[in-house]
Amino acid sequence: MDEKILQLLRESASAFISGEEISHRLKVSRTAVWKRMNYLRTLGYEIEASTRSGYRLIRSPDLLTPSEIKPLLKTKWIGKKIHYFETLDSTNSQAYQLALNGAEEGEVVVAESQERGKGRLGRHWFSPPFLNLYLSVVLRPNISPHQASLITLMAAVAMADAIRKFSGLLPLIKWPNDILLGGRKVAGLLNEIQSEMDRIHFVILGVGINLNMDEKMFSEEIKSIATSLKIEMGQTISRKNFLQSLLQELENWYTIFMKQGSTMILKAWRDRAQLKGRQVKVTSFGEILIGVAVDVDSDGALILEMADGKRKRVVAGDVEYSRR
Ligand code: BTN
Repeated sequence: MDEKILQLLRESASAFISGEEISHRLKVSRTAVWKRMNYLRTLGYEIEASTRSGYRLIRSPDLLTPSEIKPLLKTKWIGKKIHYFETLDSTNSQAYQLALNGAEEGEVVVAESQERGKGRLGRHWFSPPFLNLYLSVVLRPNISPHQASLITLMAAVAMADAIRKFSGLLPLIKWPNDILLGGRKVAGLLNEIQSEMDRIHFVILGVGINLNMDEKMFSEEIKSIATSLKIEMGQTISRKNFLQSLLQELENWYTIFMKQGSTMILKAWRDRAQLKGRQVKVTSFGEILIGVAVDVDSDGALILEMADGKRKRVVAGDVEYSRR
């Protein structure tokens, strides 16, 4: 009912709509309408009420509900169905369950906060309420499992482009899929896959981006390595506008990948990662490797040249840049 009330208020834009008309259209009593208006106000909707003219929507809060997001979306298929939660364990886990139960490509799970947000390599992703974006997209690409990491590279490119277009700042992708602004991490990606030997059933593309965190909100542990778009831009970010841009970029880049294969994705990733020739220290499965980054291969693995000139292929790990 709240979604329908908001829809009616939006349709009448700056004009009033009478309580009588709303109660007639929704087939509920005027008292019920009045109660829902009060509830919507507690969510942050500014609704003007006049005994003679009815109700008028003055301002909407920056919530990630379908009724706030959908009017902004210009995508063809990503986000046509949005599963919204105030809080969840993890949007990835929820999307995984939905995909097991047949959720379609492009369905999105979004939460205002996560209790057990999952990061890469078994880490925790700090997910405080109403500040950032935590979302997961169900994808069903017709590719083989060994190409799955290309989806991660594709998503990193989409995220970097969404940030650049939204902020005018130039993000850098750090292998495999961290997004940095001014050398600090602003966003991360975590993909989970369900597949057979030669066929992917689905990929859950998990995206976390720090939008409105202030420096003091980060723990001591990550303070020096993490940032938010608000910190970098010096202004509060509209989460719903950012989400709209991000879903658009994801749809664009995924479509390129599906139609043209990996070449464009790898080129775009290389352009945005500026990896070649960097002196790096990689921690991979407890081993520390120091070398010069040569490239990523078509499976998304990092190729390092070691001091003895030999090349090493790294499939997972953490990278630190030593010097340029
Ligand atoms: C990383 O470690 O860099 C990856 C972080 C990914 C976090 C996002 S938040 C939304 C989605 N749900 C999760 O539990 N994790 C991802």
